[in-house]
Order: sequence, then C-alpha cells, then structure tokens
Amino acid sequence: MGIFLLIVLGACQSNSQSSAEAETAQRPIIVQGPMPIEAEEFAQRLENVEEETSGTFVFYKGTLDGYPVIVTKTGKGMENTAAATAVAIERYNPIAIINQGTSGGHDSNLDVFDIVLGKRTVNIGSLKTANKGEGEGIDPTIWKPMDLMASEGSAGEDPEAENIRYYDGDPELLSSANAVKDTYTKGKVVEGTIGSADVWNNEVDRINWFHKKYGTSVEEMEGAAGAQIAAAYDVPFLGIRVLSNNKVNDGQYNPDTAAANQEYVYEVVKNYISSDAGE
Ligand code: 5AD
Repeated sequence: MGIFLLIVLGACQSNSQSSAEAETAQRPIIVQGPMPIEAEEFAQRLENVEEETSGTFVFYKGTLDGYPVIVTKTGKGMENTAAATAVAIERYNPIAIINQGTSGGHDSNLDVFDIVLGKRTVNIGSLKTANKGEGEGIDPTIWKPMDLMASEGSAGEDPEAENIRYYDGDPELLSSANAVKDTYTKGKVVEGTIGSADVWNNEVDRINWFHKKYGTSVEEMEGAAGAQIAAAYDVPFLGIRVLSNNKVNDGQYNPDTAAANQEYVYEVVKNYISSDAGE
C-alpha cells in the first residue's frame, strides 16, 4: 500500500512538473488578424499547424523557425478582439501579442501600402458628449475623451476620466519591427498612433479632428481592444497596421495591402524570435 501510494504520488509529481515546464519553456507569440484576408496568409506560412476554435475565434497553432506562433482570426471589431485576446491569454500564456491588419489613414503624409507601428494605441470611440437639453442639438466637435480605466467609479461624473488613455506599444516588439523595416519595399514603415473604434469615419473634418486631438496616424477597429486586454494581463503588445485606404489624400481602398502587411509582420516575428523570445 505504502509503495503503491509512493508510486502514484511520484507519477503525479512528474506529470505536473512536465506540464509546468511546457508552459514556461516556450510561450507562444500570438499574431491576430480580424478578417480572413488579414490572418490566413500568415497562417499558411506556419509549419506543423493545428487548428483550434473557441466560439467564432480560430487559432492556427504552429511553429516558425521552430518557435510556437499562434495566428488568431479574431473577426472584426473591438468586442471580438477583446474576447479573442482574453481567451488566447488564458489558454496559451503568450509571451507577446501582435495585432495587425488594414487601416484608414488620418495623416496626409501616409499612403496606401505604408505601415504604421503602434507606438501608441487609443480607443477613439470612448467619448462623453456635452450637456444639452431637448432641442439643443448635437455637437460632436466638443465631445470629450473618456477614460474608462481612470477609476472604478462612474466615468460620467468623474472629471479625472476626461482624459485620453494611450496604450504604449512594447519597446522590444517595436525594436524588432524597426530592425526589419528595410525588408518592406511596398511603402514606408513609420511609428505612429493607432486609433480604434467600431466606426468607419468617412467625414474628413471628423478625421482631422481625431488627428489633431488624439494625434492619430490611422484608424481601425481592433487595436485598442487588444492593447487594453493585453495590458490588463501585463502581456507585451504591438499594433502593426497597413493603410488600405486614406480618405484625407484620396488613397483608394486596396485589399492587397492585407497580404503585404502579413509578409512584413512575418519578418517582425522572425526577428523577435531570434533576438528575444527564444531566450
Ligand atoms: N476605418 C475603420 N476600419 C478600417 N479598416 C480598414 N480601413 C478602415 C477605416 N478607414 C479595418 C478595420 C476592420 C475592417 C472594417 O477593416 O480594422 O477590421
């Protein structure tokens, strides 16, 4: 009986040891893309791919240069991205998360096919309107930013919440992205501010308002949601966005930008693996 117990205990111990080792030894890098054209190109470049799903989220688990990388097709928008990020963190314990895909320009110096590295990411849908009675109209240019993370109290009443909350891109991911800039030949690669909301802005005056007030380089519908959840769990995060359109300089929508961005992000991930994640 005594020997039997010892054997069982011994087996349990070595089991839990080896699964803990597996979790800490090689924590995967997550690469998120909202639409099929923004995720599948990268997924096809992985080796040893296994597909897993959770709800509508698809996780392509594979390797790149022998290191685990999980491409996630999140679906579009803030809610999908936030949930897919939380699920990925809980399930896979990632070392880093890159959220990438297409975007619309807020800066006339940026052209379709240029790429913005998210030195900062910001939610541009989190706003507080002015106080107006019935018949007094609506006035979006005096709406104020609203920081839902300022406190646990009411954001509607708290003047401290009337600030812009920026999420900083992780310096090591940024440095890998900068290190492989020259591999991208279809446009410029610049650092900038990524603005996110479940809104597609086509009013140039409104775009200019965001550009001036928030310093946005581009807009899209996912980055700030991923950044917020990654920050909640203290996981390094970077947004990388190619311009697929730019309303402020008449840059026409081009869906081929999605594949171009994934080719570049592939180089970023390779660099990150060789310089950092493997250690
Ligand atoms: N405004 C908002 N989202 C955009 N996207 C590309 N361009 C824009 C734009 N100008 C991206 C979003 C979303 C999908 C609609 O395309 O991130 O995933």
